[in-house]
Amino acid sequence: MSAVTPTTVAGGGPHSETVAVAAERRWAIIVGVIIAFLVAMMIITGLHWAAMPPSRVETIDVKTLHIKGEFIESNLGTTIGVDGKATVRLVAQQYSFVPQCIVVPAEIPVTFRATSTDAIHGFVIGTTNANTMLIPGFVATFTTTFHKTGELLMPCHEYCGTGHEAMWARVQVLPPEEFLAKARGGERLSCVPR
Ligand code: CUA
Repeated sequence: MSAVTPTTVAGGGPHSETVAVAAERRWAIIVGVIIAFLVAMMIITGLHWAAMPPSRVETIDVKTLHIKGEFIESNLGTTIGVDGKATVRLVAQQYSFVPQCIVVPAEIPVTFRATSTDAIHGFVIGTTNANTMLIPGFVATFTTTFHKTGELLMPCHEYCGTGHEAMWARVQVLPPEEFLAKARGGERLSCVPR
């Protein structure tokens, strides 16, 4: 009795070796095609996306944003512009958002302008597409429209330190008429109790 080798188990002889080599070659080709496809995808998306213009980069001095310019406390909150669009200005800091309660209208485009004073923060509003990172030194801007009225939670979604999980604000989406009646005075609106 000779030792049992894989070739004898598979039926023995040079034929089984040819089958095994062919199968291995077939799999090598399949894997090679998959790798070539992934590499091609990386190259194409890399070149294509690098060729896309980056979103507008706006910088801001973290050291002075509390004392002058757009993000001083009295300028935070929601305003309605002459063009009828709403703008929300807010600041994130460890571990809160200012204002803590944000009022926005439904069915009117709302532009958010926000920045951070310390670490990297971020927020998402309920299950809407309002979602951004907030990086110190940069102003994050996006525009969205809320379609449902009601109250939404706005948690910080970038780990920013030990108080991260307690960092969140509320967003009240008001019917457009109610919002416009409140905004008529031209002041910065928020739903923070005074
Ligand atoms: Cu701020 Cu996490």
